[in-house]
Amino acid sequence: MAVPHVFIFPLPLQGPVNCMLKLAELLCLHQEIHVTFINTEYIHQRLLNYTDVLIRFAKYPNFKFVTIPDGLPEDNPRNGEQVGKIIEGVEKVSSPLFREMVMMTTTNYCAPTCLIVDGIFTFAVDIAKDAKIPLLYFDTISPCAIWTYLAVPKLIEDGEIPFKGNDLDALVNSVSGMEGVMRRRDLPSYCRATDLDIPIIQHIIKQGKHIVQAQALILNTFEALEGPILSQFRALCPNIYAIGPLHTQMKAKLASQSLPTSNSLWKEDMSCIDWLNKQPNKSVLFVSIGSLATMSKAQFLEFWYGLVNSKTRFLWVQRPGSIIGLEDDDINVPMELVESTKERGCIVSWAPQEEVLAHPSIGGFLTHCGWNSTLESIAEGVPMICWPYFVDQQVNSRYVGEVWKLGLDMKDVCDRATIERMVIEVMDVKKIEFLERAKQMSNLAIASVGEGGASYQDLERLIEDIRLMRI
Ligand code: UDX
Repeated sequence: MAVPHVFIFPLPLQGPVNCMLKLAELLCLHQEIHVTFINTEYIHQRLLNYTDVLIRFAKYPNFKFVTIPDGLPEDNPRNGEQVGKIIEGVEKVSSPLFREMVMMTTTNYCAPTCLIVDGIFTFAVDIAKDAKIPLLYFDTISPCAIWTYLAVPKLIEDGEIPFKGNDLDALVNSVSGMEGVMRRRDLPSYCRATDLDIPIIQHIIKQGKHIVQAQALILNTFEALEGPILSQFRALCPNIYAIGPLHTQMKAKLASQSLPTSNSLWKEDMSCIDWLNKQPNKSVLFVSIGSLATMSKAQFLEFWYGLVNSKTRFLWVQRPGSIIGLEDDDINVPMELVESTKERGCIVSWAPQEEVLAHPSIGGFLTHCGWNSTLESIAEGVPMICWPYFVDQQVNSRYVGEVWKLGLDMKDVCDRATIERMVIEVMDVKKIEFLERAKQMSNLAIASVGEGGASYQDLERLIEDIRLMRI
């Protein structure tokens, strides 16, 4: 009887890799489950350069990393504009190698008993079928966003996309369960395309057809946050494991190890923690737009003026390559900005974000609303100002502002006056109200991963089901 052996294969981006490594570690706590984690060479090298991932996973004899090429030239920046090429590279170069690994059955190599792969990998359905093993899709973005992805064929059929006219505030009625909530501007950014034949829309439609063919869906969310959407999902995919917030689940299970773990693809500048230690409680706005989003130089200056004019303390992550054109020629930053920042600001190129959001000095988070950042903020009870860049972030920011009321939605705006106003509203005028609501949701997140919580139980069920998947 084979031992339960899971292959885990994330979309090679910071967000998905981060949460799948957390799932891998949670599975490894059960010695009888073997885990093979497939990284692309590019991602693996970055993890080795900037984290303790090898040491961390060395304590699990039932775990191993395998690396494969991603089909892209080494110097590809692999940022937001490259996501189409990244997916293409995985499909053309990585997936045949993945198929070989899955189908390889030799005596000293225990074949996988189930696949856990990113929901975007439509190729995995045929591989699992040929290998006669279950496929569990782990779509690492938000369920509310995935739900709108699945609604794209109906949006097209009902003539809601492409948009007629340019009123982005018009309500959208073809996403079941979201009537009266979603405006056109809140749909995933690719819905603004005038031509539906673009690769990303075709891929989303294909992904929707494949997702329902998996034996189960793993989702990084919790019942108290997205219960209504989860019940809609169950009508489509009966077997759902809602096991999030994954990083909170990890913290609860590994409470013994005090050291926070990092899966960063950039070097974390720990000096920001020392700076935070000198700031008053809940006085600092954390500003970060994740691993893929970019902004123009003009937007960069609008953000800087907005932050400085708000008179709020701020910790700002300026990720290398995130300001378009900054490498070619520098920006001459006005002296007034430099002086004020010396007084009230701290700028780093990459931060230990989970540690920052857990820090008592943090009172708000200006974020692009990537799903990991959004969940991390919710779990720590930090109110948000949302400036979504693309794909699922538009949906996430609408839910944060309009449905969960955990902050303000600043989508499609980037002027210093609005930034200043919204920062003051979250960090001052409505500070108490936002902190109270954020605290309530944080308590629900923590309860969901505690013993008897919904996410705790779904993870237990997932582990039990994996143990039974023996060939
Ligand atoms: C991508 C997509 O952009 C996002 O829309 C999707 O939901 C997930 O995949 P990314 O842009 O990287 O993700 O955003 P996010 O999901 O928030 O992941 C960023 C991760 O990097 C977070 O876990 C965050 O803690 C970490 N991070 C970010 C750091 O550790 N340090 C930083 O300075 C910034």
